[in-house]
Amino acid sequence: MAIIIEENKFLINTEKNSYAFCVDGAGYLRNLYWGKKVNCIHEFEMEEISEVSTNDPVAEITNEEYPVHGSFRYKETCLKVQFGDGTREIRYQYAGYEMNGNHLKISLKDEIYGLEIELNYMVIEELDLIERWTVIKNRGIQPIKVDSIYSAQLHIPENNLKFRNSFGHWGAEQQGFVQQVSHGKIYFENRRGVSTHNHNPYFILDKNADETSGEVYFGVLKQGGNFKGIVEQTQYGHTLVQMGLNDYDFQINLNSDEEFQTPKLVIGYSEKGLGNMSHRLHIYGNEIMRNASTRKVLYNSWEATEFKVDVNEQLKLAEKAAELGVELFVVDDGWFGRRDSINDGLGDWWVNKDKFPHGLKPLIEGVKKLGMDFGIWIEPEMVNPNADLYKNHPDWIYSSHKRTPETSRGQLVLNLCKPEVTEFIHDMIDNLLSENDIDYIKWDVNRPIAETGGDQSIWYTHIMKVYEIVNRIKEKYPAVLIEACASGGGRTDFQTLEYFDDFWTSDNTDALDRLTIQKTYSYIYPIKAMRAWVTDCPNFLSKRTIPLKFRYHSAMMGTLGIGCNILKFGEEEKTLSKEMIAQYKDIREIVQNGEFHRLENNSTNSYEIFQYNYRDETLLYLFLPMTKIGHKGVKIKMRNLNPEKIYTYLIADREFKKSGNYLMNVGIDIKLEGDYSSIVVKFI
Ligand code: DGJ
Repeated sequence: MAIIIEENKFLINTEKNSYAFCVDGAGYLRNLYWGKKVNCIHEFEMEEISEVSTNDPVAEITNEEYPVHGSFRYKETCLKVQFGDGTREIRYQYAGYEMNGNHLKISLKDEIYGLEIELNYMVIEELDLIERWTVIKNRGIQPIKVDSIYSAQLHIPENNLKFRNSFGHWGAEQQGFVQQVSHGKIYFENRRGVSTHNHNPYFILDKNADETSGEVYFGVLKQGGNFKGIVEQTQYGHTLVQMGLNDYDFQINLNSDEEFQTPKLVIGYSEKGLGNMSHRLHIYGNEIMRNASTRKVLYNSWEATEFKVDVNEQLKLAEKAAELGVELFVVDDGWFGRRDSINDGLGDWWVNKDKFPHGLKPLIEGVKKLGMDFGIWIEPEMVNPNADLYKNHPDWIYSSHKRTPETSRGQLVLNLCKPEVTEFIHDMIDNLLSENDIDYIKWDVNRPIAETGGDQSIWYTHIMKVYEIVNRIKEKYPAVLIEACASGGGRTDFQTLEYFDDFWTSDNTDALDRLTIQKTYSYIYPIKAMRAWVTDCPNFLSKRTIPLKFRYHSAMMGTLGIGCNILKFGEEEKTLSKEMIAQYKDIREIVQNGEFHRLENNSTNSYEIFQYNYRDETLLYLFLPMTKIGHKGVKIKMRNLNPEKIYTYLIADREFKKSGNYLMNVGIDIKLEGDYSSIVVKFI
């Protein structure tokens, strides 16, 4: 049984882990344990906590499951509200629990003000994960203003931990970092409303973990808009983590009888290092995705043509793409309105007659005749000031309406909190899909929100409205895949993954930079959603020229796309592209569904090594960006193979047969030569 309750003690067991808390004698909901599996709930003591001194009061030193603002709490708290009479302190009493299968609800009440706080725990036993979230209910008469609300607090009985997350900006998402936690607090957040390239909504805390060993505590917030995470090492040798909605410029109103639910925080503990954490989160990610289909090889002309899309050029590209083996042809920005630059057309979703005189049909039919699926780009949350949409509805944007609204990338953000705006967006997409044979949508968003027009709830509501629209579209068109793009990888999170099917990982398509971006991405998010393109060189961002094979191998780490101007391909590039695309099709089940490993490099040369295991097949990816003096090879010890199985594989045209046992323990020696060398080896 996943949840064991005895007196006022609660023990949540997954297959390998346990999490325990209690209602203690003083009425606090107190955390007792989080870590390796233990079975004996009765062994947990609930000894009374007494104040150490008046400066170390009980509320401050108790490891509460959900500390609230008020009483002698000076640490970070999870909930802060304003009651009708101006009171801001909450005083809760434990009011019971409800258990339904693997779902446990704990009820806390502030009777005087009619505030109910419901803490939710959903146990996913086989993945050793727990989803935690909170629902608050106003059972009083007067409205309650909510100033800050987090999904959960986690208590880790250790100090001097290492905190891992990613930082970045446009073209530089997913730069992993490790920061020592010491006395004080670390904040990481998103304040931009729509998405972020900066920090990602997760925490990883460990002492000395590596890929295969060491204790790791982690949590991923399912929240695409503004979030905040706090890691705090307290005065008492403990580490606290809170994650939830960002309280920056935030306030929501809860009228009598209204409820509010926080985003879910998915938490886990691994005693086998970071690799084990990633495997479980990848399975979780794959399970929350609605469409499990094998992702197709895509062509997108954005880098090749930018806004200069027209039916003839696109048809020529489509023909070449089909010849190479592409299965999905996507028209990017520029097909609609008077869209010739970033300053025009957004909001006017009629087909541009100069570029497509007979509408989209000739292109779509052409693409379908070539045996490919068809996809199209939209940026529905935005409008350009010179678009007809804005001229007709100047009140449809977030703005004070007394000042000139501020543009970014020449555009304004539509106010999705207005029902007529969400209806407009929904109907536009619905019409596009019902009138055309479209299989794939690339949904882009290219600027943050800057003005709220006075409403502090929009930071939360905007993204929820996006999901609502996508949900309606998905219900009507379940087979249509939708890619989440936000000037690259700015919308990469687990909540987005519940609605969208692909992440555009980054506008940075430099194959070497992508190894860093993709590696950091892989700590949390599933490979199946990691879209990666091969693009032209010199790369538009890095100005670097990298051999085509290395570019393919780098993009083949995720779901393969091609973004080159393939009309300019010579015979050599065509032949190699055909070969690489065919190879990708052969291995993609393993790539997209496999158990992903970041392997150790023990060479003085900076190899990047990755392994994918799926059923009884395995892939090894090896990259050597630059050969250094000595040009040493690398010994690779593979992971989690079947020790008994004899694997057959080819390296440099020589066939090898080795047991899983040998490959994992003795390992294999490989030496790549030159700069930008790479190989992909399949073990069958
Ligand atoms: C930003 C995206 O990340 C690009 O791939 C491309 O779709 C452009 N927007 C189009 O404006």
